[in-house]
Amino acid sequence: MSNTIRAGVIGVGAMGGNHARVYARMPHSTLVAVADTDADQLNRVARTYRAHEYSDYRHMLDQEALDVVSIALPTHLHYAAALETMQRGIHTFVEKPLAESVATARAMIDASHRYGVILGVGHIERYNPAVIALKERLDSGQLGKVFQIHARRLGPFPPRIKDVGVVFDLATHELNIMEYLAGTGIRSIAAEVNRNLQNQHEDLVAGLLRFENDVVGVLDINWLTPTKIRQISILGERGMFLINYLTQELWFYENRSAHDRWEGLATVGVSEGSVIKYEIERVEPLRAELEAFIDAAQHGYNGLVNGEEGLRAVYLAEQLLRASRERRVIALPPYTPVPALHPAAQRLPVRPLTAAVPVEG
Ligand SMILES: NC(=O)c1ccc[n+]([C@@H]2O[C@H](COP(=O)([O-])OP(=O)(O)OC[C@H]3O[C@@H](n4cnc5c(N)ncnc54)[C@H](O)[C@@H]3O)[C@@H](O)[C@H]2O)c1
Repeated sequence: MSNTIRAGVIGVGAMGGNHARVYARMPHSTLVAVADTDADQLNRVARTYRAHEYSDYRHMLDQEALDVVSIALPTHLHYAAALETMQRGIHTFVEKPLAESVATARAMIDASHRYGVILGVGHIERYNPAVIALKERLDSGQLGKVFQIHARRLGPFPPRIKDVGVVFDLATHELNIMEYLAGTGIRSIAAEVNRNLQNQHEDLVAGLLRFENDVVGVLDINWLTPTKIRQISILGERGMFLINYLTQELWFYENRSAHDRWEGLATVGVSEGSVIKYEIERVEPLRAELEAFIDAAQHGYNGLVNGEEGLRAVYLAEQLLRASRERRVIALPPYTPVPALHPAAQRLPVRPLTAAVPVEG
């Protein structure tokens, strides 16, 4: 087994094309093959990165000795493709949302255990350096008690997405990040959704969350806004953090009253203070994500956002839709989110890379 990871990509549309580029350019991987049913798209990506091309991904999996595969198909096709890769012993990275239902997400996790392979999920904002910097600051206690987390993910409708609504497509990003930053699970969910321009699926969701530590969460997500906004703010005793995911910027709006007095807001109140923009080294989150995936495939789990977290986001998306459908607040059982990335501390063994494992049955 050489040190160069042999990678394949299934579905080389908007997102899969980026996976192909990253595998082709990372020093420890080589892009061996790509698969797509759209001949033009397939040919363009295969030629750009000099990869073998397949119109049927099963043929690719049978003919190429792949160590890792990314699946960037439309969401409802993730499950079938992931079973094909995992039963061949190939470590599998699935774009978010992991699946279109809790049942299929669970079956994917079961398969990853059965076949002893890594299952990574594309919750890409977890690799955004602004999110990582914010998590460190929250964990160090800079904000004091947290009051509210407010996520906004707005923009025009991407017409290529036909199989899921905005809750599965976009809210899953924020649900994962909000629990990660809160460090605690969501305890209750209320939501309103609407179909405005879309007939089949919702294109707007407003969610109201309560976390187990009493923090309030606000979700404001749609496919209707004529400009792309991706922001999250965390309000607490000592001020407010604000992230622009797109520009990877992190600001802190200080509560001047709490600057050097710690007796609690009840006595000091809130007033405007300094605004700090932290220096953050920009990175490509997809590259950081696939590096973590390859590292996990070689050495065991390392804090990679895994199938369990993908399942949790799918579960929360289902509960958001349910809360809206049933017009009531849904109470959720306790859940403890994974801690921050601690590469050494969280590493769990997996079996070695096994491109040559035969298909069962
Ligand atoms: N992490 C992120 O920020 C992010 C961003 C965009 C998309 N995504 C996810 O990536 C996935 C793909 O989204 P996209 O925007 O790239 O969609 P897309 O439509 O641009 O790409 C999907 C590709 O799959 C191909 N395809 C469809 N059926 C196939 C089959 N049976 N076999 C082989 N190829 C097939 C299509 O021809 C197309 O090229 C979705 O799950 C989406 O949610 C994630």
